[in-house]
Amino acid sequence: MENYSKATILIVSLIISIFQLQVHFSHAIPNQDVSYMKFVHNATDLPTKEEYDYIIIGGGTAGCPLATTLSSKFSVLLLERGSDPNKYPSVLNEKGLSKAFDTEDDGKTPFQRFVSEDGVENIRGRILGGGSMVNAGFYSRGHKEFFESAGVDWDMELVEKAYEWIEESVVSQPILKDWQSAFRSALLEGGIVPDNGFDLRHLVGTKTGGSIIDDKGNRHGAVELLNKANPKNLKVAIEATVQRILFSG
Ligand SMILES: *[C@@H]1O[C@H](CO)[C@@H](O)[C@H](O)[C@H]1NC(C)=O
Repeated sequence: MENYSKATILIVSLIISIFQLQVHFSHAIPNQDVSYMKFVHNATDLPTKEEYDYIIIGGGTAGCPLATTLSSKFSVLLLERGSDPNKYPSVLNEKGLSKAFDTEDDGKTPFQRFVSEDGVENIRGRILGGGSMVNAGFYSRGHKEFFESAGVDWDMELVEKAYEWIEESVVSQPILKDWQSAFRSALLEGGIVPDNGFDLRHLVGTKTGGSIIDDKGNRHGAVELLNKANPKNLKVAIEATVQRILFSG
């Protein structure tokens, strides 16, 4: 039963994210805020030698929030191999989602094609904001077992606050249209209970999750978390290649 429920949740999540494309939303967070651009530089425009308290490699869903939070107290350089999202507007709007499937990978586009170790063709983000700029936008908190089995002594109150910090910036509640509502009812009628309504937590049963694509079709990816950074302490370098990491001392 437990495995059956998990598999069901996964399938529901996938289906809801696929149909997110046709969804309308009840409350909208403001239009895209690109004030992060004031931190963003072409890597080649930065000084050849500079010191930072932290250098983060990779400006994706982990790198962006990490750079932002560290910048409250420390100087930070965030390095991203891809470009800034404004150069590829398709990643900023749900209408561009199909581009992930029909764009040739020339080594520069936001959609890097790869084949997983078990042979599945997939796409990963090559752009500031990472995978959150090229996925279907479904948002859910992590599941309890993840935190229990991660081997980390989590302060769950802080984890909760971290989720809220992200959700207030980039997550909104979708209003399901005809197809999604019918599918949702079918799941409940089929016994996938309880009905959790709209909920951002990972739960057994049926729920409507959050979305990072708002009612106007604007994507709010992890890149927007950089807007909360301390401007005195953060620099972001795009189209940056890391060749060597030297540890000393
Ligand atoms: C990076 O360089 C390109 C080409 O010179 C320029 O169009 C773009 O505005 C630059 N981006 C930033 C963030 O400086």
